[in-house]
Amino acid sequence: MKTVAVVGAQWGDEGKGKVVDLLAADADVIVRFQGGNNAAHTLVVDDEKFILRLVPAGALHAGKVCVVGNGTVVDPIALMEEVDGLKRRGRLRDDSLLKLSYDAHMVMPYHRAIDHAREARAGSRAIGTTGFGIGPAYEDKMARTGLRFDDLTDFSAFKEKLERNIRDKNLYLKTLLKAKPVNGREILEQMSKVRTRLRRYLCDTAALLHEAVKAGRRILFEGAHGAMLDIDHGTYPYVTSSNCGACAIFGGAGIAPGELEAVLGISKAYTTRVGAGPFPTEIEGKLANMLREEGAEFGSATGRPRRIGWFDAVLARHAIRLNGMWGLALTKLDVLTGIDPLRIGTGYKMRAQSYAEIPPDRRLLAKVKPIYEEMPGWREDITQARSLSDLPANARRYLERIGELCGVRLAIVSVGASREATIVIENPFLA
Ligand code: GDP
Ligand code: IMO
Ligand code: MG
Repeated sequence: MKTVAVVGAQWGDEGKGKVVDLLAADADVIVRFQGGNNAAHTLVVDDEKFILRLVPAGALHAGKVCVVGNGTVVDPIALMEEVDGLKRRGRLRDDSLLKLSYDAHMVMPYHRAIDHAREARAGSRAIGTTGFGIGPAYEDKMARTGLRFDDLTDFSAFKEKLERNIRDKNLYLKTLLKAKPVNGREILEQMSKVRTRLRRYLCDTAALLHEAVKAGRRILFEGAHGAMLDIDHGTYPYVTSSNCGACAIFGGAGIAPGELEAVLGISKAYTTRVGAGPFPTEIEGKLANMLREEGAEFGSATGRPRRIGWFDAVLARHAIRLNGMWGLALTKLDVLTGIDPLRIGTGYKMRAQSYAEIPPDRRLLAKVKPIYEEMPGWREDITQARSLSDLPANARRYLERIGELCGVRLAIVSVGASREATIVIENPFLA
């Protein structure tokens, strides 16, 4: 297949970055199509760790075109810093390979200020956002007051719009949120620098992708966040402000629906979540701490400890259905080594009622109790496994059971953070 999407099947941090980096070897173009620098995708290549926030995770392979599509919200300063950081480490040398959509929206300092002030005011009702201004930036996009990169082509018109926005936002910050206003002059100076730096990357990325599809080039779409953080299909309001599934590709990258051939969902062999909101299979205490330490489950974007839980087949089925997944990549199987017994959430119950799917009244997700199935664990180190037959029988049984409960092919199993620590059962680009 030539056009493949990688999307998160849980609450983010499933290991999308690792899988995108792996598959990027077989792709020509790698595309971010939604989200912003609330994403943090970790790549471990030749013992070096990279955390990519806005730059697509194909950037560590030489010669790949990396596209930041129109559906993203981009903090221009954060993008510049990320690009500089990669260049300092000898990556992303060729500027002509990074393409930033003219139509992408900019995240401004006032978006970050609003995000922070709202979270602080919300107290115990806070969402636990990353604080990078993502929600407020998407709000402005929908309100049609946002600034896009194409605005930079006429700087005096840009300046006028920016000044108007700063006036409005400062009024909102001061009077409603009781927060400190942002400094308009400073922002204008920053934007003038940004303009010089970022103009070289600007591109009609939808037209570029159209040409790439027509020419039969292999395109890899890199989702951010995960199905349960999706603004429509996730655990609203404890979600991010974009659609996080494959559906967002058509709006956020500009290819046509029929042009996407396969969706690969990424899920951990257990579950994690950062931020507030329901989490039916959550576990706490000693076992959760063990998994958190073993799996280094601390947010790559904010350093917050991730909440930990068992694999939840109900949520996996939800994500698979919404995305029409061709296959699933299961990551961090190695982290479960030594845990016996293992549990898989297969359904939910509440009083006499049981549920095989998420209850239609989504609010019940905070009240249901999971129905678990227990499976025997394994003790052997599996980090060197490169094929299913290298795995202990109980690890294979665990994978098979997940495949059965989810009704989807297991395409990839990841047994370590590095590119090599992977069992590729079926590569979608070669299928
Ligand atoms: P993303 O946001 O979906 O790209 O995921 P993150 O990069 O935020 O979080 C996944 C974390 O798990 C990163 O630290 C990865 O390096 C790490 N990781 C990915 N796959 C594996 C795996 O199979 N085993 C282990 N131990 N770590 C992994
Ligand atoms: P990647 O792409 C994990 C969560 C935040 C918060 C909620 C809203 O690395 O998987 P936001 O700042 O987006 O308004 O925060 O969404 N969140 C993520 N959690 N991984 C992510 O991205 C996330 N992006 C947003 O923790 O609960
Ligand atoms: Mg992440």
